[in-house]
Amino acid sequence: MEDENGYAIMTKRIISTQPSQHRSQGSPPVFDGYKVAVGVLGAVCVLLVLAVIAQHVWGFQAGQASCSGKCDIQQEAFISRLRQSLCDPARSGPAVGARCALCPKDWQAHKGKCYWDSKRSQIWNASQKDCELRNSQMLVIQDQEEMDFINTITDGTNHIWIGLNNTSHTGNWTWVDGSPLNQTLFPVSGPVASNSCGVVKGNRINSETCSAEFKWICQKDAVTV
Ligand SMILES: *[C@@H]1O[C@H](CO)[C@@H](O)[C@H](O)[C@H]1NC(C)=O
Ligand SMILES: *[C@@H]1O[C@H](CO)[C@@H](O)[C@H](O)[C@H]1NC(C)=O
Ligand SMILES: *[C@@H]1O[C@H](CO)[C@@H](O)[C@H](O)[C@H]1NC(C)=O
Ligand SMILES: *[C@@H]1O[C@H](CO)[C@@H](O)[C@H](O)[C@H]1NC(C)=O
Ligand SMILES: *[C@@H]1O[C@H](CO)[C@@H](O)[C@H](O)[C@H]1NC(C)=O
Repeated sequence: MEDENGYAIMTKRIISTQPSQHRSQGSPPVFDGYKVAVGVLGAVCVLLVLAVIAQHVWGFQAGQASCSGKCDIQQEAFISRLRQSLCDPARSGPAVGARCALCPKDWQAHKGKCYWDSKRSQIWNASQKDCELRNSQMLVIQDQEEMDFINTITDGTNHIWIGLNNTSHTGNWTWVDGSPLNQTLFPVSGPVASNSCGVVKGNRINSETCSAEFKWICQKDAVTV
């Protein structure tokens, strides 16, 4: 605008295109043109935003509408096929549609849990890490019934690491899921010491130094279909 030539050119153009009453309002007429452009752009933006929102809401409802009923039926059919193909009729009974608990290959199913026992031995820390890598945790024994089942896995002869250690400053035995050991249910035999980890041998829990090497057991929830 400061440039004399530019200003001259602009006024010329405005005079030729704009109606005269625009020039009587204080602001230069060229700004009115910008205002209109900005206003139009603003309106377009608002419309676009509204369109996106509308599409989102409508699309969501449409998605739900086309899925309700149909998706349930498809899912039921899929689960039914899984049951037919993967559930062992000898275990879950011959009843049609009987539910069963599934475990990964090489894991044993028992009462809604899956168990995996290692073939080699290592220190407690490494065993815990290994269970995590298998998307599971070290064995937490809930009750006597589970203890009896574990005995059938271990043959009751070997020491096997379980998810139990005494490393907190309170000096309590704690399971890897954070729960305290019920010593009325499972009294711990063996040396009372810091840096102790739990093994199961026969029907009992023993205390061992965590840097000893034993086999271990991992557990995870079974998938019920
Ligand atoms: C540790 O055990 C003692 C006695 O059994 C109990 O009073 C205390 O609350 C326990 N501490 C924790 C952190 O569990
Ligand atoms: C004891 O177990 C807890 C998890 O429950 C773990 O954080 C801690 O490192 C373990 N201690 C040792 C010495 O392995
Ligand atoms: C510990 O186990 C005993 C024996 O099964 C049971 O009577 C008691 O209620 C248990 N205590 C806790 C805190 O779970
Ligand atoms: C657990 O370890 C603490 C030291 O960290 C020790 O004082 C306590 O006696 C131990 N408890 C058992 C039951 O081994
Ligand atoms: C186990 O790991 C914990 C923390 O990760 C560490 O403090 C402890 O020293 C380790 N114990 C052994 C025996 O490696």
